[in-house]
Amino acid sequence: MTMFAESSAPAKIILCGEHAVVYGQPAIAIPLPTIRAIARAFAPKSFGQKLRILAHDVGEEFSFTDLKDFDRNNPLLLAANLFFALNKMDIPDLTVDITSMIPVASGLGSGAAVTTAFVRVLAKVTERPIDDNDLNKIVYSVEKIHHGTPSGIDNTVIVYEHPVYFVRNQSIEKFAFGNPMTFVIADTGIGAETHLAVADVRTLYDANIQKISSIINEIGHIVKGVRQAISSGDNKKIGQLMTQNHKLLQELTVSSSELDNLVETALSCGAIGAKLSGGGRGGNMIALVDNLNTVHIKDKLLKAGARKVFEVSVGNH
Ligand code: PMV
Repeated sequence: MTMFAESSAPAKIILCGEHAVVYGQPAIAIPLPTIRAIARAFAPKSFGQKLRILAHDVGEEFSFTDLKDFDRNNPLLLAANLFFALNKMDIPDLTVDITSMIPVASGLGSGAAVTTAFVRVLAKVTERPIDDNDLNKIVYSVEKIHHGTPSGIDNTVIVYEHPVYFVRNQSIEKFAFGNPMTFVIADTGIGAETHLAVADVRTLYDANIQKISSIINEIGHIVKGVRQAISSGDNKKIGQLMTQNHKLLQELTVSSSELDNLVETALSCGAIGAKLSGGGRGGNMIALVDNLNTVHIKDKLLKAGARKVFEVSVGNH
């Protein structure tokens, strides 16, 4: 065991296709390399068979002392347990410090990023390397605590840290950008639980299968269009399709007045396209922008009530 190790994992956005992805349609997700969760592990000299986890951003501390008797609804304890089981090892004497730049419960993949960084640091400090496929399985199992029946898109884009065209239960398709893209991301500051929005869409679907299926299929077409536009580097088309996707998400009742307000503000300031990203009802709005007007758009979004704004460019290398 080494004395110290550090690992991290990125936030993510869903560019298009959320919710419809639960029903077998494709979705596109992109990692945000500059917004990260970081885990640092310190191995003291004593052997106390105790793992201490300090989750600074949520102000919580957990201890893991028993492989069988622990809270399985605690994402970090479950992640640690799955990692130790995979490696058939006892609980090491360790302290893990977790910090994150990613807003919690906001559609940016905070939970999956924290779990990913955490398991990676356990692997590093205990010198038991884990490959991305095994890591992805662990993070997916932990995601079930937050999301019930997640499609798997969040853990996949975050663990592999690569843009993905994702279809549930199919092998993932990585892709490259025809042109760089710059996003302004605005946080409503409203935490929203994805599993509730997913459950509400399911109720809507069950009540009106024909209508909701056609919205879901339309979202699928949009995602295919975005996939093509990414290859050809047609950012204008991507933006138009994002805004159309937002309208369909409104019809699925997963937007909110705050998200709609941020979408309208971004568009009225010249964003190429804008939509909610993730489960919706709160969380974040993403706007595809020209590099020229990002300062203006960010300023207007803050004035329109955004709690935080981020600017992220992808596809530059
Ligand atoms: O975890 P979030 O809030 O980024 O949303 C995940 C995307 C959904 O399609 C709404 C749910 C899922 O499991 O794919």
